[in-house]
Amino acid sequence: MKAFLKKVLAFGLGSMFLLSPLQAAEVEVLHWWTSGGEAAALNVLKEDLQSKGIGWKDMPVAGGGGTQAMTVLRSRVTSGTAPTAVQMLGFDILDWAAEGVLADLNRIARQGNWDAVVPLALQKFSKYDGQWISVPVNVHSTNWVWANKAVFEKVGVTVPRNWDEFVAVTKKIKAAGYTPIAHGGQAWQDATVFDSILLSVGGYDFYKKTMVDLNLKALGSAKMVQVFDRMRVITGLLDPNFSGRDWNLASAMVINEKAAMQIMGDWAKGEFIKAGKVPGKDFMCFRFPETQGIVTFNSDQFAMFRVGSADTKSQMEMAKSVISPVFQSAFNVVKGSAPARTDVPNSDFDACGKKGMTDLASANMNGTLIGSMAHGHANPAGIKNAMYDVITNHFNTKQSSRAAVKALVAAVETAM
Ligand code: GAL
Repeated sequence: MKAFLKKVLAFGLGSMFLLSPLQAAEVEVLHWWTSGGEAAALNVLKEDLQSKGIGWKDMPVAGGGGTQAMTVLRSRVTSGTAPTAVQMLGFDILDWAAEGVLADLNRIARQGNWDAVVPLALQKFSKYDGQWISVPVNVHSTNWVWANKAVFEKVGVTVPRNWDEFVAVTKKIKAAGYTPIAHGGQAWQDATVFDSILLSVGGYDFYKKTMVDLNLKALGSAKMVQVFDRMRVITGLLDPNFSGRDWNLASAMVINEKAAMQIMGDWAKGEFIKAGKVPGKDFMCFRFPETQGIVTFNSDQFAMFRVGSADTKSQMEMAKSVISPVFQSAFNVVKGSAPARTDVPNSDFDACGKKGMTDLASANMNGTLIGSMAHGHANPAGIKNAMYDVITNHFNTKQSSRAAVKALVAAVETAM
């Protein structure tokens, strides 16, 4: 019956039929939230929609960071079967908006006063040509370290405040027989570590100059050589089986006392929470040394594709649900992120969640909030992927820092 109605709509007769509740009430959602913690957060959304009578057709595409999901999306759109709602990041949203295929969310944005409650840093990616084209779910940030408290205590080390202390701490951890850093060797994870290292070497200004402004001189500078030097130090702190490992399995190494730390965005907290661990008691969250006061952020958003009037109602209902303050709290408590609106109380968040929200607000106020390169908020996909290639090649070979810097400049120049 449903398929029949869809066919009818495709022939332009939709307006002659009133949409059956069954037909109007479903969203097909393409996303990459497949780890334990992510799935738990996604459930909050599914249940919320279910309570409003909206069905859920799941379209998961595994692969952290969303690289694979974006490839699948491209082929779905090309074959004329775009999903109704798609998890998306930063510049990808703007790229799709430029193709004119995203639904207009202006009416509900106006009703809900989104302009007043969504931070401008997010609006930059939720609006195209002044029109709302996606709804933000959260604000994650990437310059975090997740550490096992018992391992730190057994080794007798404390939270490192700067790079030298960090190196000293990792040496002690290694000597005590633990893997200092749990890591998954996938390009987006290498790039996530790079986010933190770059910030620790050059601070906000250098990060902006290189990642956002794409200043070739800064990209080719001695400071960038230092960044790759530090990346090389990191490669010496991993276990031998890091290659290809999924990020959540790296989190599990920290959770299970196999490794001391993971350098990862705050979605990692979702894994700790899912495993029943408590911040401050079982694990610690702290900003990567020498990046305190700065936040590299990424915001998951849902963009709705123009798929025909039959789906519009459920798309708009989903967007309304996602932006509601109650949902923003419930979802982000589980996901590890901060709410995407400024008026959500932090009362339900744990210590790490509260710290994330405070850091975000003060970075926003102090002008030290900047989009994450690794997660598509500093530059468009073409540039980002060119950077990924250079970073991951250096990470997995014995390439010198100087050669990596040269390759970075050349790759960005070509991609620009
Ligand atoms: C990020 C995304 C997060 C988390 C992570 C790992 O790009 O923003 O929500 O899912 O990938 O999958």
